[in-house]
Amino acid sequence: MGRAFVYVILGGGVAAGYAALEFARRGGYSRGELCIISEEAVAPYERPALSKGYLLPEGAARLPGFHTCVGANDELLTPKWYKEQGIELVLGTKVISADVRRKTLLTGTGETISYKTLIIATGARALKLQEFGIQGSDASNICYLRNIDDADKLVSVMKSCPGGNAVVIGGGYIGMECAAALVTNKIRVTMVFPEKHCMGRLFTPKIAEFYENYYTSKGVTFVKGTVLTSFEKDMTGKVTAVILKDGRHLPADMVVVGIGIRANTSLFEGQLMMSTENGGIKVNGQLQTSDSSVYAVGDVAAFPIKLFDDDIRRLEHVDSARRTGRHAVASILDPSKTRDIDYLPFFYSRVFTLSWQFYGDNVGEVVHFGDFTSSSPRFGAYWVNKGRIAGAFLEGGSREEYEAISIAVRREAVVTDMGELEKQGLALAIQE
Ligand code: FDA
Ligand code: NAD
Repeated sequence: MGRAFVYVILGGGVAAGYAALEFARRGGYSRGELCIISEEAVAPYERPALSKGYLLPEGAARLPGFHTCVGANDELLTPKWYKEQGIELVLGTKVISADVRRKTLLTGTGETISYKTLIIATGARALKLQEFGIQGSDASNICYLRNIDDADKLVSVMKSCPGGNAVVIGGGYIGMECAAALVTNKIRVTMVFPEKHCMGRLFTPKIAEFYENYYTSKGVTFVKGTVLTSFEKDMTGKVTAVILKDGRHLPADMVVVGIGIRANTSLFEGQLMMSTENGGIKVNGQLQTSDSSVYAVGDVAAFPIKLFDDDIRRLEHVDSARRTGRHAVASILDPSKTRDIDYLPFFYSRVFTLSWQFYGDNVGEVVHFGDFTSSSPRFGAYWVNKGRIAGAFLEGGSREEYEAISIAVRREAVVTDMGELEKQGLALAIQE
């Protein structure tokens, strides 16, 4: 049993959706030559919605409203769109092995799918507590959040305990966004994480302090510098309390876990060159792997960032997935006209009425600016490395202001006087 395609996109997430859009725009394939294979049962969608609009108590986002590529104010790629474009969606289908030399993929249903060109867009999976030796983390009221099934479970568990207690494990993106969503759903939240402050991968202590104070004002309790060791359960196997390393018992009607991800590289280990330090599939500026017929995009790809002197990075953010997805297709269909990707890393989050954006790299000395105390805060930070702006963060900015900081980072604006930079703050980026 088998099917043959010219182009196969393996994975049906954000990067796949944007790659499909690029194929359709460029039209470099015939009907039936291109397919997307996805373990998920639905067409590609904007994953960020799962921790935001999807969890709203009223007027929650639901498919088809957030299929790609609505996040970039582009077309809404519904199943009907794929049909019209002659792109086959092979949904609810897991690829269980890949043979790069033979150019074939084997699915869980025993089908062999062959390709001439493959785009790997397998993204990442959520790390599980059992991988850290915590037993019993498959209880019905413990939630992870990576895909729409996880989000449905989270919504249903949340609805089962109005006014109850949630323990959120992890102080990263999932922890922060889910904590905000839980509070909005009138659930009391305690956040537990091992670091000194939230969002340790990006925030400075001063920035983190602002968000922690804001969350505290919304009723969130922070338990920092410790981890959980086990769960207490009732007769039905539901978690009733989380037990911490320092001995504390936190009552829990539900638990949300966001302790990081691992890129889904396993199908290709030993076949393609990996970036061991980044935990992803290594690609060049055309998003091409060590096999010239295979490309990798999105969370699974480790690619050179020109702005960082071609340092290889694996980014776990939606803008990177969108752009690398499109760039790979441009490289495949029009290699002579497609330059190496020149990507400016961009991360963002929205919680409660807050909203921040970050551009570049958080390396070097930090200078904070703006108003951290007002009820409508507008503040930020620059990271200065080797006398130039390497990264910039802004909370509460306008569209123009976000664009201004992104340009300052892109231009690597020269900084001669840190005191002056602090005094000027956002004005520096605006007058650039
Ligand atoms: P993605 O994970 O989207 O897709 C991978 C696809 O591959 C899935 O469909 C999966 O089922 C499939 N797959 C994997 N292995 C397979 C196999 N063997 N066979 C078949 N199919 C397989 N970023 C940001 O910048 N701002 C934000 O606000 C957010 N918010 C956010 C919320 C939540 C809840 C999550 C989980 C993530 C975010 N992100 C984010 C991160 C962002 O969503 C992420 O970077 C992109 O989804 C990555 O896109 P990919 O297409 O690479 O992977
Ligand atoms: P993360 O890397 O942002 O945070 C992981 C957190 O897990 C750390 O901050 C740490 O506090 C905690 N942690 C690690 N080991 C732990 C342990 N043993 N016990 C307790 N806590 C532990 O990962 P995440 O929050 O799980 O997010 C998953 C992915 O989803 C990331 O790729 C992220 O970029 C993406 N995401 C992005 C956004 C956004 O960009 N706005 C929003 C949601 C999710």
